[in-house]
Amino acid sequence: MNIQRDPGPPVATQQSVGKSLPHESAALHVTGTATYTDDLPELTGTLHAALGLSTIAHGRVIRMELDAVRAYPGVQAVIMASDIPGANNCGVVVHDEPILADHDIQFYGQPLFAVAARSHDIARRAARLAKIEYESLPAILDMDEAIAAQSWVLPPADMARGDVTNALATATHRLTGSAKVGGQEHFYLEGQVAFAVPRPDDTLHVYCSTQHPTEMQHLVAHALGWRSHQVSVECRRLGGGFGGKESQSGQWACLAALLAWQTGHPVKLRLDRDDDISITGKRHPFLCHWEAGFEDDGMLLGVKIELASNCGFSADLSGPVNDRALCHLDNAYYLDAVAIRSLRCKTNTVSATAFRGFGGPQGMFMIESIMDDVARHLGLDPVVVRQRNLYGPSTGSERNLTHYGMKVEDNILPQLLAQLIESSDYHARRKAITTFNTNSPVIKRGLALTPVKFGISFNATLFNQAGAVVMVYADGTVLVTHGGTEMGQGLYTKIRQIVAEVFGLPPTDIRFTATDTSRVPNTSATAASSGTDINGQAVYAAAVTVRGRLAALVAQMCNCQADEVRFADGCVYAPGFSEDFADIARRAYAARVQLWSDGYYRTPKIHWDAATRTGRPFYYFAYGAAVSEVAIDTLTGEMKLLRADILHDVGRSINPALDTGQIEGGFIQGMGWLTSEELCWQQAGAHRGRLNSHAPSTYKIPTGFDVPDVFNVALYDGENVEESIYRSKAVGEPPLMLALSVFFAVRDAIAAGCGSGSRPPLIAPATPESILRALKQGREAA
Ligand code: MTE
Ligand code: MOS
Repeated sequence: MNIQRDPGPPVATQQSVGKSLPHESAALHVTGTATYTDDLPELTGTLHAALGLSTIAHGRVIRMELDAVRAYPGVQAVIMASDIPGANNCGVVVHDEPILADHDIQFYGQPLFAVAARSHDIARRAARLAKIEYESLPAILDMDEAIAAQSWVLPPADMARGDVTNALATATHRLTGSAKVGGQEHFYLEGQVAFAVPRPDDTLHVYCSTQHPTEMQHLVAHALGWRSHQVSVECRRLGGGFGGKESQSGQWACLAALLAWQTGHPVKLRLDRDDDISITGKRHPFLCHWEAGFEDDGMLLGVKIELASNCGFSADLSGPVNDRALCHLDNAYYLDAVAIRSLRCKTNTVSATAFRGFGGPQGMFMIESIMDDVARHLGLDPVVVRQRNLYGPSTGSERNLTHYGMKVEDNILPQLLAQLIESSDYHARRKAITTFNTNSPVIKRGLALTPVKFGISFNATLFNQAGAVVMVYADGTVLVTHGGTEMGQGLYTKIRQIVAEVFGLPPTDIRFTATDTSRVPNTSATAASSGTDINGQAVYAAAVTVRGRLAALVAQMCNCQADEVRFADGCVYAPGFSEDFADIARRAYAARVQLWSDGYYRTPKIHWDAATRTGRPFYYFAYGAAVSEVAIDTLTGEMKLLRADILHDVGRSINPALDTGQIEGGFIQGMGWLTSEELCWQQAGAHRGRLNSHAPSTYKIPTGFDVPDVFNVALYDGENVEESIYRSKAVGEPPLMLALSVFFAVRDAIAAGCGSGSRPPLIAPATPESILRALKQGREAA
């Protein structure tokens, strides 16, 4: 893609890009006036939906009696699977996920029917009156059971390089181990919601809290048996998505649309929070058994891994999530000989889905566990083993080809780690902690440094494209629309900065429309951290096109070259000429110059062979590292993060404040995943398979109190080697994985409580129970 680079000012004179501008909705957020889907003014006749959910995890519906539901005063419609005119499916890759269960129940809480009524309260009360008889079947809940039963949502897959058998045979040391990490609830503050409005001529408009309006459009059209141009989907902002509103918003958009179609009324479906947690997909739990061969200095020669994930009852995004796990099993390390078998387990739980990092965090968790075990086995500081195994520098190294065939072109981790070790005073603190632990029988401290190398781009090449429209009105104001969605991450703010930079306008002169499939078609999900990368480029291309036309006009007026025309400070300059941007816009309109343009971008260089799982799936890598220090109480299992030091690479930042916010937020969210957020499914009895941790009372996300007292976050000084937008790098997901340092610091503290050489079997999340179990088992083994 040949985009004309901004010929304008060097970085030092950039007016908008690179500045820490506040989030475009910050004032609205903090005053509670930012409108989300549920805040939209309701239209006359709006109905509200509620769901009937299964109360078994696996089985069949023998009889479903809904007369009482239908008869309840205020109820306007009740729909079941058989009422769906089109495809009863909301599975986005494999069509294995019904919108409403037909007869087969595959998880506890699976939607069976939907009610539309005058109020939300009426709809909920009515839904409770259903009489349903089931025939129960044995339910598979976890990965071990699924593996034993060979129950898969997708066939097992392999990724390998080199001769592992030989590497294991010749290595000085050989070790086996296993590691396990739990799932995670997204806990977006705004729950799932869709508001479907019937419009004339067999069309429908759906307001939906979704990261993927185009996918919603397709699913709704298919459910109605319609075609894409009959459905439009709109989203101004989400109150958080974190991957949970990529595919998972589909079912609710479809149900709202189906009820709207059936009743002819606008229908709003807003999930109750308990339902939302119980019946929407989560992060995949992963399990791994490994065997590694390595040398005295910790250098890994070969590693063989069986990697299983709990995908829940349907495929959803499990294929790509597991592929991303495979592509991140190396994390920052060169694996010379490696063989991975990936098992995609099918269980009778809600379908697992995208969650910040998209399988990457789980893959990285495994290799970091191996690094930690190798170091503990050898009696080395894990940081030494980690540094030893890093990919080589970009030039003159054989050790920079990933196991899926992509070259690591700009490995900055050796320098980045050295810088962080220095700035965090790692080695002195390591000594101090050893001394502390010797003198402290109950409280133990732990320290860990973990690196991050995260691939940026969608693994599926086709999603790496974006479109935008930039409109300049005749009064010089600018309206921008693009395919990305704003979920708090600051995409719209960065887009505004890019457009402001191109036109030399104050950022506040740039406004947005909501993201809408009828303005930009065929959009990709705002995911894989690539929102700014791809939409930013599309917007840039559109803005540069319009600017080029304005420059040509001014050049003609001033008898100069177009490249002598400059746009800055809200003005347009040419030699001996300056005028307000608004006046130039007015002149351009009068001269019949097109004042708006579309823009399009597709990421260059990437390719991926899905059959062999090789190629260059990522345009580039984002890097980072964190050092965490924790204290644990060996009597209660309590844990506190005392200090965290982060050095993270965002290339040349478009907005340092937003990037820092993403790093801090991602890190804390990752810490929640690894230390306190535990999903508990009922294991026995009639309600086996029910998610018991379905509310904030039983599911503990981190709060402000969990932020460490000392929290040093710095941006690594550098720029993207690739021609990304203003040489920036994506930041949405990578920082989550910095939290691996917290988990391995906890493990370090536990090891200190178990005696030297111990490899405490700590399972994530490292809750107090998990910490106490690891202490007990570690001590028994020592
Ligand atoms: N930040 C906030 N505040 N809210 C979110 O929902 N989602 C994360 C990340 N940061 C999220 C967030 C996820 S999962 C992704 S993929 C990226 O933002 C998506 O946005 P981007 O591509 O524009 O970075
Ligand atoms: Mo993010 S998990 O790619 O939505």
